[in-house]
Parts: sequence; structure tokens; C-alpha cells
Amino acid sequence: MKDIDTIRAIRQLKQQKNAIILAHNYQRPEIQELADLVGDSLDLSRRAAATSAEMIVFCGVRFMAETAKILAPQKTVLLPNHNAGCPMADMVTADDVIAMKAAHPSATVVCYVNTPATVKAEADICVTSANAATIIERLQTDEILFFPDKNLAAWCQRFTTKKIIAWDGYCYVHSRFSAAEVAASQARFPDAVLLVHPECPADVVDLADEVLSTNKMVAFATASNAKQFLIATEEGIIHRLRRENPDKQFYAAGNAKSCFNMKKTTLQDIYLALLKGRTEINLDPTIMDRARHSLEEMVKFG
Ligand code: 13P
Ligand code: SF4
Repeated sequence: MKDIDTIRAIRQLKQQKNAIILAHNYQRPEIQELADLVGDSLDLSRRAAATSAEMIVFCGVRFMAETAKILAPQKTVLLPNHNAGCPMADMVTADDVIAMKAAHPSATVVCYVNTPATVKAEADICVTSANAATIIERLQTDEILFFPDKNLAAWCQRFTTKKIIAWDGYCYVHSRFSAAEVAASQARFPDAVLLVHPECPADVVDLADEVLSTNKMVAFATASNAKQFLIATEEGIIHRLRRENPDKQFYAAGNAKSCFNMKKTTLQDIYLALLKGRTEINLDPTIMDRARHSLEEMVKFG
């Protein structure tokens, strides 16, 4: 099928099935164009919980679709490409968390939303890159076990005297940004504002004008008087930034970096997902209840 026919068929099926299409900021441009909402992991999950649609087609990676299911358990949540995982989320297991808790019984367990549901179920509270530093500072505890991103943990450590014990996880996309290439881009575009995601290494974060989650990057660029921006996060967001700010210029800081998993989902996958109801996210109800508690704690604190 040609793309235009696939898009037409998707729109028809979407109506028939009372479905909504949610797309993460890193999705392919044609999927961002088709989606009912483009956003970050938390924003999309909240939208999933609030929608009156019966079916949610989540164009992102597995942990995001799982989060949507946890927050909207009565709805059918589909992950159109079942191979779309997040390698960082898979760097920690529930057993790892249980073992760390046993070694640090008085610590509070904080887990990044980029984790499987089974890990969220072992946590006291979840965080996203948008609220991690604020939530950690507000927690009534001196010691924190943070899973799984060591770079986000190091960013949060800059704002607190609490002891953060970080798991050794990282994002393979953001870890590839080097200070040398980002500094070279700054030299090439001296007037550009550098926006960096906190999953980047510390020496890249040190160069930033602003360290922001993906939705906060969009909000910042939109509100700013600056005309040029360098972006140190997955390159898919540049499509959204340009689309929403046609009078401003956005460039990748250094070489553009692509998340292979975020790009797995295609128009054809979305069409087949709607047609065949695949791949449906199904989780153990007990795990969902415990994971929901960690997510709800985040909403309370954040
Ligand atoms: P957001 O929470 O900002 O959507 O980021 C998710 C992610 O995977 C970052 O790499
Ligand atoms: Fe996971 Fe990194 Fe891809 Fe985000 S960009 S989904 S953290 S691998």
C-alpha cells in the first residue's frame, strides 16, 4: 500500500474502533503527523488515562505503553511494533531492585519511568526527567536508590545533599553525545541556545544553557526570544520543534543521534495494529496495582 492509502485506512479503522494514536517526541515524522497527540512519556500516559477512547495505539517503546496500561487498565493498549523496547529500561530487573533494597534497607527507592512494570512495582516512587530533581529534593529521606539511569541520577545529585546510589544503567543514544562534538557545534553557531537532555553524560550537561526533558525543550524553545537552538537529545524531536516554531532554527548538537527502537514503528505497523488488535499490552493485575502506586506517588509529589 502507498503511504497515503495506509494513512486513509488507519483513519477509518481508528474511527471504527474508537481509538486514539499517541506518539512520542522521538517517533518518525510521518507518525508524528498522523498522531492525535505527540508528547513525552508522562504526558502521553496521562492523556491515555484521561481519554474517552476505548483503544490506545501507543507509538513509542514498551515501557511507555505499559505505563499507559497501568494508568488506564480498563482500556486496550496496543504497541504496534512489539520489538520496540528501551535497552536502558531493560538494564535493571525486579530482582536487582530487591537485592539493592536488602543491602540498603532504609533507602527510598526511586525509579525512572524508563523501567519495566515489574521494576516500578518494587519502587517507592517513579520519576521522569521532567520532575526527578524536584521529587528527590522533596522526599523525606537521606538515602536514595536510583534506577536505572546513572546520568540522570548524577544530574539530580547536583541539587541535593541526599546520598543517591545510582544503578549503572544508561541510554545508548544520549551516551553517544561527546563534549567535543557539542562544543564544536557551539563554536559553529555561537548565538544558538544549547538544550541538553539529562540522560547525556556530565561533561555534555556542563556545556548546556538549559538541561530539560523533551516536552520542556519544546516549551522552552517556544517561549524563548532566541532564534537558534542546538539540541542534544534524540533527533526525532527536531521535527516537532521545527513544526511548532517555523520562525526558529533547530540543529542537532554534534552528529544527529537516532534511537533505533523509537524508529521501529512504521505506518504499516499502525495499520496492522488497528486491524488485528496487536500487540496488546497485558500485565499481571498485582504488578499493575503496585506499579500504579509508584506512579501515583510521583503525581502527588511532582
Ligand atoms: P521523555 O520522558 O522526556 O519522553 O524521554 C523519554 C526517553 O526515552 C528519553 O530518552
Ligand atoms: Fe530508551 Fe534511550 Fe531510546 Fe529513550 S532514547 S527510548 S532512553 S534507548
